[in-house]
Amino acid sequence: MSSIASSSILDRVLVLEMVRVTENAAIACSKLIGRGDEKAADAAAVEAMRDALNQLDFDGTVVIGEGERDEAPMLFIGEKVGRGHLETGVGTGPRIDIALDPLEGTTITAKAGPNALAVLAIAEEGGLLNAPDTYMDKIAVGPGYPAGVIDLRKSATENVRSVAAAKGVEPHELMVCVLDRPRHEALIAELRGLGCGIMLIPDGDVAGVIATTNPDTGIDLYIGSGGAPEGVLAAAALRCVGGQMQGKLVFRNEDEKGRARRWGIKDLDRVYNLEDLASGDVIFAATGVTDGSLLKGVKRRRDGVITTQSVVMRASSGTIRWVDGEHRAHRHA
Ligand code: FBP
Repeated sequence: MSSIASSSILDRVLVLEMVRVTENAAIACSKLIGRGDEKAADAAAVEAMRDALNQLDFDGTVVIGEGERDEAPMLFIGEKVGRGHLETGVGTGPRIDIALDPLEGTTITAKAGPNALAVLAIAEEGGLLNAPDTYMDKIAVGPGYPAGVIDLRKSATENVRSVAAAKGVEPHELMVCVLDRPRHEALIAELRGLGCGIMLIPDGDVAGVIATTNPDTGIDLYIGSGGAPEGVLAAAALRCVGGQMQGKLVFRNEDEKGRARRWGIKDLDRVYNLEDLASGDVIFAATGVTDGSLLKGVKRRRDGVITTQSVVMRASSGTIRWVDGEHRAHRHA
């Protein structure tokens, strides 16, 4: 038997097929980079991702998508995707749960800023937290730290000190990535008090969390609240590349708590570890829409070729593949 054999159900879904899906979404919305229209960019990515998913031979269920059925026309939570569903209304092939964000960074794209991505994660049925569309407090570090180096129950100061001690540096030598939001004012002041570097990002915390795993970014730690769906997507990536992450849902009102309960969440105060957010074998794929710390964005060359850069990774093997694509523009008109 080959040493690369594996028994996961995800074997039956070609890993590289996932890249075709994120490439399709990225190319479609790239026409709207810098055009100031967030909704049109998102809609283009959603439609293209759905088309690509519906060409695959799997019985897919969207567990993290564009919203609940009554608020999202496509790729809503619970939507079934895959060739069988498209052609006959009945799913065929392995049953796969899907978390997706066809355009992570709609505002970034509208403003031609950095780090917009088309993102997708798949897992065996039940492998991804069915996170409601609320906020999530998040903390993440890259690989190589002792287990438990971060703890969401502790203050930012304690976490920074813990990571700095494990890295063998002083707290002021760390770089922390934080979403630039008024709600993070106190957090930013606390970090400034420690003398840390703070990389304030305008949007796109999936890329922000993943940046902790790449020494080239200089980012040691990610802290702050962002979308819960984005938290699950980032966790899927960290399951593949290594690192630690915790998340805790944040509710602004009773309606959001109700949403969480509807998706089966019983303990609303639970602190989720990485494996609670994304468990078992997981595949994560992303294609750059605009240039960023993880990937280059979509480019249109004068010779009619569209170039893309993607990454696809798998938890069970730890394999990471970087995929440079060249696409004929007339096929994506
Ligand atoms: P969109 O692509 O949906 O605009 O999300 C961008 C994003 O920055 C996410 O990366 C992040 O998790 C979330 O928005 C933060 O939410 P908010 O903008 O409400 O602070």
